[in-house]
Amino acid sequence: MYNWRVRAVEKALDRVGKAVGPLEVSDLSSLGHLDQYHYLGTEACDEVAELLGLGPGSTLLDIGSGIGGPARYLAATTGCSVVGVELQRDLYEASASLTSRCRSINKLVSFVNADATGVHSLQLPQPFGLHGQFDHFMSLLVNLHIPDRRALHAGILPRIRPGGTFVIDDFAAVAPATAAEGRTLVDLVKAPSVTSVSAYVAELEDVGFVDVETVDMTAKWAHWTAARHTEYVAAEAEMVALHGRQIFENRSYFYSKIDELFAGGRVGEQLIGAASAQPPLPWLSPPQPGLHDSLQYHFFLGPLFIAVRVFHTATLQSSTAWLYDTSQPSMGPIELLNTYTPLQTGVGPGIVLEGEEMCIVDDSVNGATITLRPSNPKAQAVLQQAGVGRGSLGRPELRIEVEQGHSYGWMPAGFEGEADRPVIHRPAMVANVAMWRGVARGGFGYSKRDGRSSPIPHRYHGIYPRYNGWRFIHGVALTQDQTFIAPPPRPLPLTSMAQGPWTAPSIVWTADATFGDDKYNYFKLLAPEAHESGTLLESAQADTYQQQDVAYGRIGGERVTASLKEIAKWHTIIGGRGGNDMEMKYENRLCGFTLQVGDKPPTTGLAYNERCFGCLW
Ligand SMILES: C[S@@+](CC[C@H](N)C(=O)[O-])C[C@H]1O[C@@H](n2cnc3c(N)ncnc32)[C@H](O)[C@@H]1O
Repeated sequence: MYNWRVRAVEKALDRVGKAVGPLEVSDLSSLGHLDQYHYLGTEACDEVAELLGLGPGSTLLDIGSGIGGPARYLAATTGCSVVGVELQRDLYEASASLTSRCRSINKLVSFVNADATGVHSLQLPQPFGLHGQFDHFMSLLVNLHIPDRRALHAGILPRIRPGGTFVIDDFAAVAPATAAEGRTLVDLVKAPSVTSVSAYVAELEDVGFVDVETVDMTAKWAHWTAARHTEYVAAEAEMVALHGRQIFENRSYFYSKIDELFAGGRVGEQLIGAASAQPPLPWLSPPQPGLHDSLQYHFFLGPLFIAVRVFHTATLQSSTAWLYDTSQPSMGPIELLNTYTPLQTGVGPGIVLEGEEMCIVDDSVNGATITLRPSNPKAQAVLQQAGVGRGSLGRPELRIEVEQGHSYGWMPAGFEGEADRPVIHRPAMVANVAMWRGVARGGFGYSKRDGRSSPIPHRYHGIYPRYNGWRFIHGVALTQDQTFIAPPPRPLPLTSMAQGPWTAPSIVWTADATFGDDKYNYFKLLAPEAHESGTLLESAQADTYQQQDVAYGRIGGERVTASLKEIAKWHTIIGGRGGNDMEMKYENRLCGFTLQVGDKPPTTGLAYNERCFGCLW
């Protein structure tokens, strides 16, 4: 319905001798509705610039960019960079070719010819921040045309950085439309998705946008659309000469019906809000004492053990990673990174956290990729010696590819009422690194994260009491004579943990925790024969307890003992900067592991033992 305007722009430029060659942005913006298809022309763009705080360095995604007028105007007036996504090929081509002629801004503005409902997976021009995220988006009189508006919004969300902001100019029913208005909207305006304002806001918030505010534009738009109609009819001779009688008749009818629609006082809206693709860091604003948001992984990869944790509270974000190589005990534990520099969240269907030294991408269905590229010279030397290869920053880079395996969820003590937000445990992850001392290494690992059922999976989080302590053990034990029952999707190279052919491990994980006044313990066993079904065996809480180097449970009437023999130990203090800060001793132990179930022969392997005590804030 806009194509005639491409020809109209060409004619208008021809009339002023600018059919070809360089253009100023004002040559186009002065063409009014031929350049700016939304209401209130460049005045609305000025408002967008102010609301979003656009300036040099800002990045803006323009949904339904039309012939590119708003994108060019905003780049010219604010210095921001814009990527427009436009469905109609002729509009896209005109936007790109007109913009290429505007030398003052053509490096700042680009367009993509695509359906914006698929913007989540579009290849967009770079550079636009981490993983192609933008600071802002605008959508000026576009969403009303898109039948699946919810899909559009859900697709836009991950393309906007957490805390990024947006302006949507769109139709919404401020009051219920009459039947005649309904027909005008659907048949003439081609606007199938006009809803009430409250439904619009709820939909945006439901997909993950936050702080959505609305401005009722009905009166302003009514005034503008009435003036547009009057001026258009008054300029009949000129319009007919420029575009022909047919277009004049069609436009004057269209403008009269829109004038009528807004004069009714029931349609018109502007929506403003912020994006939150992942919980912003901190994810509660203002942060609350006891906020606890964490993500943890560890892996037994033959001789190589790796432990990774992101620990986020109201006062800090700590990222740590260590490795221990059992084939090089004299090296001791190697601290790969231990930093309070916050990770940035990025685009993806799951968790995307990126920092200079560590990147975690975890889609919670297929698994995770964890990239470690430490800045500390000792860690770099160890990785280099192990032959891991160099990554994009030119540093030695250890990349762990992880398949998630079975996952289990339940609520910790004190949170039983929040059953929609279980903590997710993944005790049988299968992990690989491509190279460690000349060989690809594979093995098992564990991860804990939050299982909130919102569209985007979040990290493990909650408001916890100030005083906490826990002992946690995850052990993987193998024997020679077990047969491997359920091979994961790709071959499992665990041969360095058990000589000879593959065997299914017994996996135990158990915790003894105190969260404020609440005591909490569990003891879970994934037996070798249960790898296919994922059926867990567990001990009753009353039969579950830990001592210094051993955890006990009772399963199927048999006593189960998980014993540890320390191989290496290291710790860091997280926080501890005084005042109300968090202060926790976070200790890791890599241990030899012996699992005894009743009087069956013991099985042995490796275990990770986390001991953490202190206070959160
Ligand atoms: C009223 S025009 C607004 C254009 C531009 N925002 C402006 O204000 O100048 C609506 C635009 O949305 C585009 N559009 C409609 N559905 C779209 C979709 N699914 N993806 C991308 N663009 C779309 C149309 O092709 C048209 O260019």
